[in-house]
Amino acid sequence: MALTENRAVLDWIDEMAAMTQPDAIVWIDGSEAQLEALRSQACATGELEKLNQEKLPGCYLHRTAVNDVARVEDRTFICCEKQEDAGPTNNWMAPAEMYARLKPLYTGAMKGRTMYVIPYSMGVVGSPFAKYGIELTDSIYVVLNMAIMTRVGQSVLDALGDSPDYVKGLHAKAELDPERRYIVHFPQDNTIMSVNSGYGGNVLLGKKCFALRIASCLGRDEGWMAEHMLILGIQNPAGEVRYLAAAFPSACGKTNLAMLIPPAHYQEKGWKVWCVGDDIAWLRVGEDGRLWAMNPEYGFFGVAPGTNAKSNPNALATTRRGTIFTNVVHNLDDDTVWWEGLDKNPPEHAVDWKGNPWNGTVSAEKGAHPNSRFTAPAKNCPCISPEFESPRGVPISAIVFGGRRARTAPLVYQSRDWEHGVFVGSIMASETTAAATGAVGVVRRDPMAMLPFCGYHMADYWQHWLDMGKVLGDKAPKIFNVNWFRTDDEGRFLWPGFGDNLRVLEWIMKRCFHEADAVETPIGYEPKAEDIDLEGSGVDRATLEGLLKLDTAMWLDEVNAIRAFYDKFGAKLPETLSQELSALEARLH
Ligand code: GDP
Ligand code: PGA
Ligand code: MN
Repeated sequence: MALTENRAVLDWIDEMAAMTQPDAIVWIDGSEAQLEALRSQACATGELEKLNQEKLPGCYLHRTAVNDVARVEDRTFICCEKQEDAGPTNNWMAPAEMYARLKPLYTGAMKGRTMYVIPYSMGVVGSPFAKYGIELTDSIYVVLNMAIMTRVGQSVLDALGDSPDYVKGLHAKAELDPERRYIVHFPQDNTIMSVNSGYGGNVLLGKKCFALRIASCLGRDEGWMAEHMLILGIQNPAGEVRYLAAAFPSACGKTNLAMLIPPAHYQEKGWKVWCVGDDIAWLRVGEDGRLWAMNPEYGFFGVAPGTNAKSNPNALATTRRGTIFTNVVHNLDDDTVWWEGLDKNPPEHAVDWKGNPWNGTVSAEKGAHPNSRFTAPAKNCPCISPEFESPRGVPISAIVFGGRRARTAPLVYQSRDWEHGVFVGSIMASETTAAATGAVGVVRRDPMAMLPFCGYHMADYWQHWLDMGKVLGDKAPKIFNVNWFRTDDEGRFLWPGFGDNLRVLEWIMKRCFHEADAVETPIGYEPKAEDIDLEGSGVDRATLEGLLKLDTAMWLDEVNAIRAFYDKFGAKLPETLSQELSALEARLH
């Protein structure tokens, strides 16, 4: 039975059901009873496996198809009327042509299956900045993940009332055929269509599809920003909590930084880190003229490998109840889960991510997929911020960009001002990871970590950043760049990372409040080596100096690479950014 009388919603669902032809339609009301019944049903069909309920209460395991383990950027489209509005970094097709191409893929795709109607909210239901969506899907796995990642159910429909202002999402697993897999966005229709996939980033439509690709378009039109950023609060020994937002590409450390545990002597002095969000920030200028950030999500969709009790006890603790694990190792001895980097004791009697018997003590192959994931409720996180449910979010003092660069980028530097900071974001580059299909470890430009997520022309997006800076004026956050991933000649990381990253964040925050000094370099301001606290880090002063060192020849090469990248954007490239590039080149000479 329908849970709303909203005509726009009912008509759209009728239309989608006529096309996909499900046997039944089930509305998700958000009740625990309904979700529990769906979990049982999924266990009965093998879609989920229930794990050891004493060790991992409320936890389940799922495996995707072997060819369906990451976001598919080459099959992701922005379908606006004019190609020039999608820009050179997005796949594009005219909306009418794409709707026509998708129709046969969806026709009859839900025959013999149930269509679930998931009303969900990005942001606190009923709050001024919340936005609503409805996802139709034939996957219980999607329903259960959406119920962790977003606020779902009747309350969302009540808040929507009879408004037609919601984002439509249609997901069908179809045959999971990678050749006919499409992740498509129609910004002018507020519509998302995903077909032939069952992997999180492709099918949990509230996340990258809505909260970044569609929302970036809404933000441009309405004067706010949707960004691929974690949000965290740093409490200093004086008890003040200062907030920053940080954009890193997928699998470059957002979730880990968001749940950082301070090094021991920082803890003794009273430092604490509060997690507001780990992946997406919606940013607005507040009534006080400052930039405020809220996390529209309700859970974490984190990378499992590498998560352990040493690198990130908070992330690990977050996954110990109410969590769905995807493509990790199933430890048959005690019915729990394992992944590479969890501990040094891989299970002997286990099933790998592909569903095959696996003996971790002898196998040369990885047991968990490198992009295996956990979907966990935000409220599980031991350091979840008291502001997590604050509808207006938190005021941002610093914006931090970063990525994986083995050589070029120093550990940290500060931009000269907002415009230069936008330049620093626009030239971000990072080695590719397993979060998307394709080669891993190849350096590519990923402006503001939004390359795969910006729903319109990237140059217009940069202009939007510049315009936001004008509105913010002297209340604008300071902008920084970090790189935790610099390596030595043997490819070993020079910086310990994880909790030790607080040493860098401390300097960043002090810079925002005029409490720390800096040295001017051609690329921006860097800390004096003595201003980074190394106590207990295992890093010596010489290594730190190496981490902060600039190689001018390498940066001159970088200038050329940036110029070639900028050339793609033609006349749309904001003049300010080409001036910043020339100024950087002049300073390097
Ligand atoms: P996200 O996808 O951006 O949220 O990235 P995650 O926080 O999930 O981290 C992705 C991978 O990078 C995991 O394997 C982490 O263990 C690793 N990682 C995260 N932070 C650091 C760090 O500071 N240093 C190093 N060396 N690795 C890190
Ligand atoms: P993430 O992306 O690696 O940034 O968490 C998740 C995804 O959508 O695949
Ligand atoms: Mn993450």
